[in-house]
Amino acid sequence: MDIKTVGVVGCGLMGSGIAQTVAEGGFTTIVREPTQELLDKGLERIRSFLAKGVDKGKTTPARRDEVWACIRGTTDMADLADCDLVIEAIVENRDAKKAVFAELDRICKPSTVFATNTSSFRVAEIAAATKRPHLVGGLHYFYPPVINKLLEVIRTNDTAPEAFEMLLSFGRLSGKLPILVRDSPGFAVNRFFIAWYNEAIRLLDEGVANIPTIDVAVCEAFGLGMGPYKLINVSGVPLAYHAAVSLTESIGDFYRPARHLRQLYESGQLWDLSGEVDPARKQAVADRLLAVVCGVAARVAEEGVATVEDVDRGATIGLRWAKGPFAIMNDMGLERALALMGPIEDAHPGFIPDLLRQQVASGQPWTLRHVRLAIDGAIAHITMSRPEALNALGSKVLHELKDALAQVRANRAVRAVILSGEGDAFIAGADIKEMQALAARPAAIREFTELGLGVLRDIETLPQPVIAAINGFALGGGLELALACDIRIASSTARLGFPEVGLGIMPGLGGTQRATRLAGRGVASELVLTGDLIGAEEAARVGLVNRVVAPPQLMATARRLADRIASRAPVAVAKSKAAILATQRLPLDEGLAFELDRSSEVMATPDRVEGMQAFIDKRPPVFTGTEPQ
Ligand code: CAA
Repeated sequence: MDIKTVGVVGCGLMGSGIAQTVAEGGFTTIVREPTQELLDKGLERIRSFLAKGVDKGKTTPARRDEVWACIRGTTDMADLADCDLVIEAIVENRDAKKAVFAELDRICKPSTVFATNTSSFRVAEIAAATKRPHLVGGLHYFYPPVINKLLEVIRTNDTAPEAFEMLLSFGRLSGKLPILVRDSPGFAVNRFFIAWYNEAIRLLDEGVANIPTIDVAVCEAFGLGMGPYKLINVSGVPLAYHAAVSLTESIGDFYRPARHLRQLYESGQLWDLSGEVDPARKQAVADRLLAVVCGVAARVAEEGVATVEDVDRGATIGLRWAKGPFAIMNDMGLERALALMGPIEDAHPGFIPDLLRQQVASGQPWTLRHVRLAIDGAIAHITMSRPEALNALGSKVLHELKDALAQVRANRAVRAVILSGEGDAFIAGADIKEMQALAARPAAIREFTELGLGVLRDIETLPQPVIAAINGFALGGGLELALACDIRIASSTARLGFPEVGLGIMPGLGGTQRATRLAGRGVASELVLTGDLIGAEEAARVGLVNRVVAPPQLMATARRLADRIASRAPVAVAKSKAAILATQRLPLDEGLAFELDRSSEVMATPDRVEGMQAFIDKRPPVFTGTEPQ
């Protein structure tokens, strides 16, 4: 499903931000408000946000003009008829939203995909206003949408896989970090976020602590700059109140707005943040809020609304918490987390999810993976999934990657691998923070480097070819990893380089060796010795990447290539790969002898008989990958 033109219905605070981020993704963006006055106001908001970006040096005037040129306003819904995707971002009113979708359904071409930015209603309910629920999902942006990278991409039971994939890839192309969420009340993040602030206010109801004590204790416990009371004053009391009411209606009494929240809403005032912090009461506050957040997060995972990794990402990226609930539980120990939940279970029986009890019984912490392995037919997708650190290679990541590669090696059904990165980076290098922490122990640094070298060797020696789909920064160890792959396809926005000498170190995962072999001594020297980054086109020109494609085409191009490789005789492919690799260590005569041996082995495979017979029979071959007899 190709996306060129995106409609945004509503150009208020959220809608204008969404329209701007869509335009920043390079999509033709048509934003609609019902009146010229509202439209002008919304467009002005975008214009001034872009101008501020230039003033603060965050963007250039040329880029501002480029983004602005992608945006067109209209008051006529009919102008959205040919959009590939329409995002609704109007006021949080169920009937109004349904009316918009019913109208869009009548107007838009049959293939247009719809997404709602609702935060409190079920997507399925809104989708039911259309005759195309299979083409409706949720795109839940976080405030402020231009800056906040988190995007909850929501699928209902009816959302077609292709439509969901389209929404995910749209999210990525417009610079967001999507998390995959099942349609349910509050989705993933609001579910624990609303419980978090509501419980903070219940503590006030119960007289456990005063407002400044609660705010300070929560900031310390969750690593935040702003506690719940201050945050509500900034984001709006009605929003906080209505969100809690909405979850009470859809989930139950646990979310009923705390007494002081209701009173504040009814009075139309803000929290009075003055007063003394009472240090003696901070622990009780922290314990209660940690218990609530961790319990609700575990429930979200238990219900399959989102994975533990995505819940944590929702907290760290969307809410800017220092750690997500599952990482917090791992840090404090799951037994302690469970013990803290005792009083909440007493007040709200059934609060503690079975998933948490089972995890405690297993004696293991939560597994929070930074490397995802997905096998789709003959193709394995390995995705570096630590976007909050630009997929930097720490020892945890390296161990997980090693494990994923071992699984691929053992899986004879897999015939090609695509390796890519989540978010803005392919891999922005080895983890500088981890290396710095290890620096006092040279043996530990060497061990870390050897681990990395071993993983890159695993990639190189994998029987299945590995395609690096370089979606963004490929720096230092990230570029070294890409160079260990067999083929490199880069998005036109990718940036590559070896910044090591600028950090006082040198490439340590084979950069001097593999870059020189691929691009020659002159090119490698310039890159390594200056530490300068180069763009994708330059990387292709000097032979570091095979080809450059537009960002939306990256994964499809890699997939087409992988499919072609996967359609060939697996043993012939694996042995060809080994023979090509042998050129890195063997002189020509020995390389030719190596090739002769491998070629003789391939000649003895049933796939050679099949491949040649298929040619003679003028039919496509059916390869089995059976080893030489
Ligand atoms: N290690 C650890 N963390 C990293 C990282 C790395 N290599 N690269 C980025 N991050 C983290 C940042 O610290 C930041 O996290 P916090 O917000 O918690 O601080 C997050 O990723 C986002 O990064 P930035 O805010 O810096 O993003 P940006 O868009 O402003 O800049 C960048 C992007 C130019 C890539 C910049 O992040 C950067 O220069 N990163 C370091 C690149 C580098 O030097 N790589 C080589 C590492 S050494 C190596 O790889 C040795 C080897 O051969 C084994």
